[in-house]
Amino acid sequence: PTLRRFELDITSTFLNPDCQNSSYPVLLVNNQFPAPTLRVVKGDDVEVIIHNSATTLNVSTSVHFHGIRQYGTVESDGVPEVTQAAIPPGETFIHRFRVVDQSGTYFYHAHVSFQDDTVQGALIVYDDEKSFPNDSHEENHQTLHDGPYQYDGERILQLSEWWHQEFLDREAYYMGKDFIFDKGANSILINGRTVHHDNYNSSLDISTRGDCPGYSVLDVQPNKTYRIRVIGSQSFRTLGLAIGQHKMTIIESDGQLTKPYEVDWLEIGPGQRFSVLIHTGDMKKDTDNLFPISTSYRWRHRSPGGHSENGFAYLRYSAIDQPELQTVFKPVLPERTGIEIAQEHEYPSYTLVNELPAFPRKNLPDWFWRDIAPMNDYNEVELKLLNALPDRVIKLRSTSVKLENNETRYLMNGRMPVVREQHILADLMQGRMSVSMAHLDEDGYAPDRHTFPIKKGEVVDIVLQNTQSGRNCLIHPWHTHGHSHYMIASGLGEYIHTTHGDIRNYPTPILRDVSMVYPSEPDESGGCGWSKIRIYADNPGLWALHCHITSHMVQGKMAVIEESPELINSHKLYKYDTEWAIHPSN
Ligand code: C2O
Repeated sequence: PTLRRFELDITSTFLNPDCQNSSYPVLLVNNQFPAPTLRVVKGDDVEVIIHNSATTLNVSTSVHFHGIRQYGTVESDGVPEVTQAAIPPGETFIHRFRVVDQSGTYFYHAHVSFQDDTVQGALIVYDDEKSFPNDSHEENHQTLHDGPYQYDGERILQLSEWWHQEFLDREAYYMGKDFIFDKGANSILINGRTVHHDNYNSSLDISTRGDCPGYSVLDVQPNKTYRIRVIGSQSFRTLGLAIGQHKMTIIESDGQLTKPYEVDWLEIGPGQRFSVLIHTGDMKKDTDNLFPISTSYRWRHRSPGGHSENGFAYLRYSAIDQPELQTVFKPVLPERTGIEIAQEHEYPSYTLVNELPAFPRKNLPDWFWRDIAPMNDYNEVELKLLNALPDRVIKLRSTSVKLENNETRYLMNGRMPVVREQHILADLMQGRMSVSMAHLDEDGYAPDRHTFPIKKGEVVDIVLQNTQSGRNCLIHPWHTHGHSHYMIASGLGEYIHTTHGDIRNYPTPILRDVSMVYPSEPDESGGCGWSKIRIYADNPGLWALHCHITSHMVQGKMAVIEESPELINSHKLYKYDTEWAIHPSN
């Protein structure tokens, strides 16, 4: 296999990506935002060298390759307190892994605190050497292929969120005694930019603000087909995304090719990815040939304080052989075409500002979970897996609670989750401890290890149970490390195994790594919606399982699946062995 080596240098600096009046301290990768795109081919060996040069902010960090299953290389998964110690300022960590059997659209991001606001970049895995683009802007010369799909070029749309508050202050707020409710972002960024404003109807002349980079522009050529890789690297909102006057055909979700499915807009949760094909039309004279790419909030209304839905970018037709028709970017706010398209379908009477149906689970878009089908019919192994009786059912019930000291945390099955002694994890990671299934409690939890042990070869169903947090029942995107999963069922209220164990309401589940738990009206037990995901345990290791809303994860909405630790390859060099060792038990 080819070895591809990348060197990522994480530094602290200041950023003002939405042209608001001030900059805020952030971490960046190689001084770029979004972080550089990493391109590899299926089967490659990948080495990523991470330098933590964030000496000014003086914070530790770590990087996770989201969606990469890390077969046999759990030590490269990048989760502090689970697979490594966070990398202290001035130190280096080396990830080595093989991209064994997956291709498609992934990303990488910091896994510490709120650093993923800006430490996030695309990771694209090509099916073979042939489809690896030499230069993504030279689509004239090359037709690209992926499975049955053909296109002239590809572009990345990376979504993120931006707060007018230092990320360290946000961490202090979420972990401190003053926490009341989640604070939505001030801006939605597309490929790292937008223009902050609170009023859609006002036009904005940014030419007077010399340092403002304005909206991102995706340059494409007329009469071509493009694959747009949409990366949900936002950390809070579930977003709608539409491209004015262009329909989208979904062909990939979380790295799996799907049967073509045409939509006017896309719903994308934190951590999810989709590829869509779009066809560009004719170049028109006397117009700008600019089309708005816009986002809308889904499932949660605007936060108090008037945070605006200002995630915009432009698709621009530029004709290389007709230079006179090339448009100059005109920073006038777009017609709200995309947003309106997004709303019509699900919320015909939804007015932008305040109203959202109280329990939007009733409006779950049918297509989202029924009509997108996997590209290839399931093979025998998958069918067996999908129809098997589970060897193990784990129910994770997460509740948001005020602790006695007035801090707010998520409890998992009533317990504080992320308190782990590092020496125990170091022993686990090096195969020095084996697990006895006899000592699990009724939830399948091993209290002394703070993990949910499972065995290699098992079919494991994990029920993700929503409960109300404060007055609200929220949507939560759950992400599995080390395995992708099939979402096989979901329902309202509280999951009760004897009643709901046989429900299978997803006729064509697709292998994903982030699935949503949709909110519902709470029942007597306080449960307000659940999803059941199925994994096949084929990858020994310690694997995080968490809500991909970063603030929720930071507040503890995370569990660890411990799969056959005695089979973890114990002779690998482990960079932070000494770090682990300096945390004695007490
Ligand atoms: Cu993309 Cu553990 O996360």
